[in-house]
Amino acid sequence: MKLLIVGGGGREHAIAWKLAQSPKAEKIYCAPGNAGIAEIAECVDIGVMEFDRLVAFAKEHAIDLTVVAPDDPLAAGAVDAFEAAGLRAFGPRKNAAILEGSKAFSKDLMKKYGIPTAAYETFDSAEAALVYLETAPMPIVLKADGLALGKGVLICNTLEEAKAGVKTLMLDKQFGAAGNRIVIEEFLTGREVSVLSFVDGKTIRIMTSAQDHKRAKDGDQGLNTGGMGTFSPSPFYTEEVDAFCREHIYQPTVDAMRAEGREFRGVIFFGLILTKDGPRVLEYNARFGDPETQVVLPRMKNDLVDVFEACIDGTLDQIELEFEDNAAVCVVLASGGYPEHYEKGFRISGLEKFRGADGYYVFHAGSKFDADGNIVTNGGRVLGVTATGPDLKTARANAYAATEWVTFQNQYMRHDIGKAIDEA
Ligand code: AMP
Ligand code: GLY
Repeated sequence: MKLLIVGGGGREHAIAWKLAQSPKAEKIYCAPGNAGIAEIAECVDIGVMEFDRLVAFAKEHAIDLTVVAPDDPLAAGAVDAFEAAGLRAFGPRKNAAILEGSKAFSKDLMKKYGIPTAAYETFDSAEAALVYLETAPMPIVLKADGLALGKGVLICNTLEEAKAGVKTLMLDKQFGAAGNRIVIEEFLTGREVSVLSFVDGKTIRIMTSAQDHKRAKDGDQGLNTGGMGTFSPSPFYTEEVDAFCREHIYQPTVDAMRAEGREFRGVIFFGLILTKDGPRVLEYNARFGDPETQVVLPRMKNDLVDVFEACIDGTLDQIELEFEDNAAVCVVLASGGYPEHYEKGFRISGLEKFRGADGYYVFHAGSKFDADGNIVTNGGRVLGVTATGPDLKTARANAYAATEWVTFQNQYMRHDIGKAIDEA
């Protein structure tokens, strides 16, 4: 089969690496890809939002299956565009990708179908939001309705902060139209867990759990980022938690989407928080998580082509997912200054050390070739250094050891990825 992956980050590198292991994968293309992905796939210089060009490329190269990985093209209807041209594509259609694309939609869905989540109100005007805040308990959480690169969530400790947050989102429009509408919700406390799943419209298959580290700095300080590191499995995701989520969250979400006429095929990412009153959904994503994918896929035994096809064909009930009985940790090497201002274009050295190193992976998030063919930094998150091990502590030690194999100027990482493991 000829496969096309749409996207160009660490998640797409992990997907490409996993697909390449399938005996069915003859040729893999990636648009736009990056310098790491180029080792396993032919990178094509087409942007993820250029649907006409992507579809034309897929037709011209007789692509059998396209995987749309990032949130923006999914929310804008990339899968619909491929399907309209008679092509097979993995991912939710636009009417289902709204599960991530609109927080107001997902909160209303959860309320309507009794799926446990934080209490909330939705606001279309800053005036009404400000009036509501006057009597609301603090801390409180403000969320831009639309997609905001994972950064449209503000946790406010005081009324002043919350008022300033409404101004940032709704009046200053820091996240553009994503902030025309906001959700204001109850602040919950507990451990966070990311659970990814495959869905074929009616059946859901749960992958192994993971935990992200969203803040830029050690000790969960600093700004929210796309994610600075992950580990899998989460020791806090117990059998009891899993049983609760299967009954009250996972299948009910799939059934709710079907009942709404928005059949979901693709990956649903459940962002969960384990409160003292039980698990609650913090958010849904309609795609693989990044960097969760870098620790989940290396542990998965199944042929990913088979799973993608089953999701499209509605035959996921015939597949059981299998994961290695091990652990994985991913440490993101970022450009100093991320998620704010940072420089790029620095040469990356040491990448060859990962070649042939069993259980060690370097997934590229932001890299490219310079004019001389050297691999240079090309983003805020640059590399995801991942290692497996028989248990979480060994995997963590392995991952941190491997971070020393690569160097580039202005390299920055968190030193406490997986610290929670010690508290388990
Ligand atoms: P989201 O993009 O919705 O996952 O939110 C980003 C981060 O904000 C989450 O990973 C949580 O750490 C935090 N967060 C979101 N909603 C809440 C909430 N209701 N209570 C506490 N923290 C939250
Ligand atoms: N790591 C969180 C996300 O992919 O949104």
